Amino acid sequence: MDGTQSCTLTPRSTDGKVRVLQLSDCHLFADESGELLGVNTAQSFKAVLGAAREQGYPCDLVLVTGDISQDYSAASYRRFASMISGIGAPVFFLPGNHDDGPLEYRIFGELGISTARRVICGAWQFVLLNSEVYSQAHGWVLRSELEMLRQAVEERRDLMTCVCIHHFPLLTGSAWLDTQTLHNQDEFRVFVKRMDTVRLVLSGHIHQEADTLMGQVRCIASPSTSIQFAPRSQEFELDTKAPGWRCLELSQDGSVRTEVCRLPEGCFTPNYSARGY
Ligand SMILES: [Fe+2]
Repeated sequence: MDGTQSCTLTPRSTDGKVRVLQLSDCHLFADESGELLGVNTAQSFKAVLGAAREQGYPCDLVLVTGDISQDYSAASYRRFASMISGIGAPVFFLPGNHDDGPLEYRIFGELGISTARRVICGAWQFVLLNSEVYSQAHGWVLRSELEMLRQAVEERRDLMTCVCIHHFPLLTGSAWLDTQTLHNQDEFRVFVKRMDTVRLVLSGHIHQEADTLMGQVRCIASPSTSIQFAPRSQEFELDTKAPGWRCLELSQDGSVRTEVCRLPEGCFTPNYSARGY
């Protein structure tokens, strides 16, 4: 893995823990008045950023796990870069199914947002995989991405590894959502299980919180900063929960403590009669 793809940070705290703020599925538009099923996504993202800042979580890094854009536009990425510039910690991202990955990497590189694919911080490394299939809702992780993960693991066997990937690698029990999952999730799971330093997989895409095990590996997904999907719904259904974010505390012994935080109930109410998006 060459130096341009890797970034090394020093944890702020002396307790050996790495603290992460996860933001996901912002779904921003070129037009600042753009709405996703009745929610102004720029306003909901702004509110989440404000609440997270007010919370004062002392994070070492911010991970944005895909779907920054809703319309594949350069302007939506510029909007994101401008909005997140005051977050006070290094920001890293990976593409989701609503993103244009190559455009996103180019624009963020120009705007000074790191395009690193691997971040080393304390006793942990974070490998940011791309599961985007352009203009398709489902995901697919290429073998070359998995080889990047293998290389990172083999280079630093002294570190615990967190794999970040937009598409949650397990079924959710929501029939409609499970049609747009990571379509080669069996390959991903087999590969990851063989990487014995992988302790955590961190995802977005499902617009709801999840915290479960894939063998010995903890798999966590986080709410969207915009609309939420109702868990275990057979057909498309929105949840009444408010936009949210996640704080994670990763210890030197490999343990993970985490908490989902949300805006106050009733904030950014979507159009509940929507039957898709
Ligand atoms: Fe999304």
